[in-house]
Amino acid sequence: MDRRGFLRTAGGAIAGLALFGLSKSKNRWTSGSPELNFKPPSTNLSLYERAATKGLVYGAALKTRHLRDAKFLASFVTECGALVPEFELKWSALRPCPESFDFTNADKLLAFAKRHGLIMHGHTLLWHRSLPAWFHETVTRANAERILIDHIETVVGRYAGLIPSWDVVNEPVYPGDGRSDGLRTAPWLELLGREYIETAFHVANSTDPRAQLVLNDTRVNYTTRDQEKRRRSLLKLLEWLIGRGVPVHVLGVQAHLWADEKRFDVAVLQRFLQEVADMGLDIYISELDVSDQRLPPAIDVRDSAVARVYYDYVSAVLAVPAVKRVMTWGLSDRYTWFAESRPRSDGLDVRPLPLNANLERKPAWAALAAAFDAASPR
Ligand code: XIL
Repeated sequence: MDRRGFLRTAGGAIAGLALFGLSKSKNRWTSGSPELNFKPPSTNLSLYERAATKGLVYGAALKTRHLRDAKFLASFVTECGALVPEFELKWSALRPCPESFDFTNADKLLAFAKRHGLIMHGHTLLWHRSLPAWFHETVTRANAERILIDHIETVVGRYAGLIPSWDVVNEPVYPGDGRSDGLRTAPWLELLGREYIETAFHVANSTDPRAQLVLNDTRVNYTTRDQEKRRRSLLKLLEWLIGRGVPVHVLGVQAHLWADEKRFDVAVLQRFLQEVADMGLDIYISELDVSDQRLPPAIDVRDSAVARVYYDYVSAVLAVPAVKRVMTWGLSDRYTWFAESRPRSDGLDVRPLPLNANLERKPAWAALAAAFDAASPR
């Protein structure tokens, strides 16, 4: 049994012993069909295995500091077929100064991925956040394009053939900035115009022609006025890019969801995803998690509501054949960015992910498992 096999077995044993079933008590926090019970599935197949049998990839975000946690890694290798660095491929991690790159931590995650046969997804070449302190005082209209090209050529070039997919531009859309095209007035746009997006994809494609290139964005899942505007702007951007022959292959949909958000319409979401698919693109659900920040304190109520959203959302998106990956933004409540970004006012630990902090499978795990099991093969 290879190391991945051993770790999978160990992780599966931990997780399998504590799988929570869920008797669906109808309560105000659930939506969709209340009679659905997330019973323990008939087999102990992992999320990775359930997704893989349908031609899907399931994985999660990971940080270098998690590599010290052997029990967590056993669960990670059991449940995941892919990892995405939560931090290590962002500018603030890679670029200590204008003249240099520090790949130390990204390389550690890649080594872990390769040792266990995991896909490593690259996140993210360009973003308006996580920029190093030197960026704004160094990058000017005169040197911006050279710096952008140099960054992408260096980073994508280092991992060519090793990282098969990249978020090339993250969160380019923000109608709140008032532009007619709905784009975010990100630093790169202010420096280079919206053509920065085109340049980034062309440079990434010429550096690694085999890589799947992703435009990744957020807040496009709900039937709010803002998120409808975002969907429209995103479709216009994709049409513009494709019309100009830009090599964009995938739309990444972040999906940082809320367990108590009712403004969700399956048909609206599926229509949007299908419009993207009809452009010839694949779709990755790139950063899925479900916040219980605003729910009552009772753990069974929170876990039930979170599981319901996982099931309803993932079932909805997997009904669109172009959806090829589902990545949760973390695997266990032991490590979730929501602890800082969406903390509970009562101070209780948040519970947004498939495994609890003790690495036990939660109803959310069973909901994901059920959605993968019900999905059509790709
Ligand atoms: C987040 C990380 O999870 C945090 O640890 C960090 O402090 C900020 O960035 N959308 C993205 C991710 O594309 O890169 C962000 O990750 C979460 C929102």
